[in-house]
Amino acid sequence: MKVAFAEPALPKSGTLVALCLEDRQLSPTARSVDEASGGLVGRAMASSRFQGKANEILAVALPAGVGPDGVLLVGLGKAAKVDELVAQAAGGTVLGALNRAGLAEAAVAVDGLAEVTLAAGALAAEMAFGARLASYRFDRYKTKEKKDAKPTLKKLSFGVAGAAAAKKIWARLDKVADGVFLTRDLVNEPANVIYPETLADRCKALTDLGVEVEILDERQMTKLGMGALLGVSQGSARPPRMIVMTWNGASGDGKDPIALVGKGVTFDTGGISLKPGAGMWDMKWDMAGAGAVVGAMAAIAGRKAKANVVGVVGAVENMPSGSAQRPGDIVRSMSGQTIEVLNTDAEGRLVLADAIWYTQQTFKPKLIVDLATLTGAIMIALGSENAGLFANDDALAETLTAAGKKVGEKVWRMPLSDAYDRMIDADQADMKNIAGERFAGATVGAQFIGRFVKDVPWAHLDVAGVVWSGKDAPTAPKGATGYGVRLLDRLVADMEG
Ligand code: BES
Ligand code: MN
Ligand code: ZN
Repeated sequence: MKVAFAEPALPKSGTLVALCLEDRQLSPTARSVDEASGGLVGRAMASSRFQGKANEILAVALPAGVGPDGVLLVGLGKAAKVDELVAQAAGGTVLGALNRAGLAEAAVAVDGLAEVTLAAGALAAEMAFGARLASYRFDRYKTKEKKDAKPTLKKLSFGVAGAAAAKKIWARLDKVADGVFLTRDLVNEPANVIYPETLADRCKALTDLGVEVEILDERQMTKLGMGALLGVSQGSARPPRMIVMTWNGASGDGKDPIALVGKGVTFDTGGISLKPGAGMWDMKWDMAGAGAVVGAMAAIAGRKAKANVVGVVGAVENMPSGSAQRPGDIVRSMSGQTIEVLNTDAEGRLVLADAIWYTQQTFKPKLIVDLATLTGAIMIALGSENAGLFANDDALAETLTAAGKKVGEKVWRMPLSDAYDRMIDADQADMKNIAGERFAGATVGAQFIGRFVKDVPWAHLDVAGVVWSGKDAPTAPKGATGYGVRLLDRLVADMEG
């Protein structure tokens, strides 16, 4: 879908999209169309439920002589509440309505709405961002889709005073959307297509954006002593990979990087602690933490962030087989700490243990954020509204919480403490990978990972509840949501300078 911005001008034909605030407060453009049509827009509103509430839509055909053939009103809700997220949702809603109408292009008039504090240029760019996010489709395996089920919209033009400002914001958001799309693609792909080697191959493409990509194979990981990660991988016919992506955008050398670490379990059967069959297909998205890290690296590099960032992904497949690790096996992690693997389905923490240790040893990062679809327990606690946030540093927790609110990828802080930590003390090794009771499951997972974090600010995001959606949303069709890209991009942006 093409997006363009130009100074305002009433189109002479086609469909005009115009804004409306709650209580049917039309934008100046909508009002002028209403007047030119002898009050048709007002009458259409009066005979409908349309109030201008956020994401409401009303299509009105216009008589000859007005200019555009029709106007599509989109509600923004209360003026005081119009922010970036409201604008994005409106853009997504508009895209859906235009596609349902079968239109190939449309012009959006973004004009001065009293009391809206978001500048017109930003409003236009954020609407474009929302529309683009909503335009995502994962349809490459649909060979028989009817033509009228396919989206029609090819071009969305925004008329906005000071189009240059909109273009500048859009240039950045467009790159973030590229990252979100990459993540959605990686997470939507089935596990016969995306497995450690192919995930690594897709990451290699980031070199085009100026990202350095290094791939460690099984031999190198064995040499480094990554017994925790390799234990998970050993039951699979697919060899593991450690994917290391470096973006050096900060001027001057020697600036410690921000480290982003992702759980990349390309399929999680549970291993010998086998999961039940029903719903097991969901475990193709057990690499969504990794997917978010890869997409964030693409966004950060794409917009040429003035920051040093390293993205590390531990990519493995967790399978049961004659070579799989057994419950009770004791493995030695890269850190030297030993682990009793009492449940082979608590594998994400084993992968992260070595990925995080490697990241610290190699890069001396100034902070670490890991993302993992780690536990079902976090889904029970927080549902799909918030990711679970665990942190050893209040400032980092607050930064992430604020960033999440700003971009609409929310996090909710959960506790860590010594008492929880003691729950994974083991009889025959330094620790065990489960507590052996159902309580505090998400925190127990976080405590385990925390044992592999040295003296550095660290946050763990348990994203199991937020990376996949069973229903369409204004800016995301169902399936992989792309969660994490906007959040991590915002975190990096907050630290730039
Ligand atoms: N990948 C799963 C967690 C998960 C479950 C993510 C459902 C998304 C949807 C993880 O590897 C896992 O199996 N966790 C176990 C841990 C338990 C064995 C301590 C869980 O949550 O049941
Ligand atoms: Mn598991
Ligand atoms: Zn898993």
